[in-house]
Amino acid sequence: MTGQPMVKAEGVHKSYGAAHILRGIDLEVQNGEVFCLVGPSGSGKSTFLRCINHLERIDGGRLSVDGHLVGYRQKGDKLYELKDSEVAVQRRDIGMVFQRFNLFPHMTALGNVMEAPIQVKGESKAVARERAERLLDRVGLRDKMGNYPTQLSGGQQQRVAIARALAMEPKLMLFDEPTSALDPELVGDVLDVMRDLAESGMTMIVVTHEMGFAREVGDSLVFMDGGVVVESGNPRDVLGNPQHDRTKAFLSKVL
Ligand SMILES: Nc1ncnc2c1ncn2[C@@H]1O[C@H](COP(=O)(O)OP(=O)(O)OP(=O)(O)O)[C@@H](O)[C@H]1O
Ligand SMILES: [Mg+2]
Repeated sequence: MTGQPMVKAEGVHKSYGAAHILRGIDLEVQNGEVFCLVGPSGSGKSTFLRCINHLERIDGGRLSVDGHLVGYRQKGDKLYELKDSEVAVQRRDIGMVFQRFNLFPHMTALGNVMEAPIQVKGESKAVARERAERLLDRVGLRDKMGNYPTQLSGGQQQRVAIARALAMEPKLMLFDEPTSALDPELVGDVLDVMRDLAESGMTMIVVTHEMGFAREVGDSLVFMDGGVVVESGNPRDVLGNPQHDRTKAFLSKVL
């Protein structure tokens, strides 16, 4: 874990109208790291993830991914907003997996995973198919490639969603509570896929309430509340020995 961080946030602010949601987020995510983000509902976790891949524009501070400012180009000490097409190119390198899987309902698992490389990168069907088959095999769905989303369990749909994000060969994966909509018995398979991805060296930011996963797989953990980072460090330390009252109060509810 050397060189520049994969994600660097410096004093990131974001408001929706009069609601000041992110109030100066400072953090760094290193290359190859599993970075867990936890905090109470409404603390701004999803908002922050959405800022990282520029689904939301930040109002203040600086945010960069792999050394590039998200949504801006710097010339001298001036910032210029990127065009939509340039933002789209930045976003290609960032995979996102949501709580709700958002698969294309009219496409099979295979079709879902093949779609973006063909549409966005202009890849041939044959190449896209080969990769999609490999990825679906990797997430344990070799025998479900021809199923439509309604013919898959929630956990299977979420694994298709992960394979779909990986098909773009991202350098960063964002997970927003990927298991919280799942029945408990389906959570394990999705976490196994994420663990495998972590072991392969993928840089991952994971918003989760799965503290066992955070403790076991996470390299860093940040506790956020009220739009700021309250506490951060090694997950074992933060979860085992929280320093701030707000962290203690939160953990006493989720652990
Ligand atoms: N598009 C929007 N317009 C206005 N307010 C929004 C918008 N998106 C989020 N908010 C508000 O921003 C705050 C932070 O929301 P966010 O979704 O980031 O929280 P969170 O930490 O992800 O919570 P949860 O754990 O419930 O997912 C909330 O008060 C929410 O109502
Ligand atoms: Mg959220």
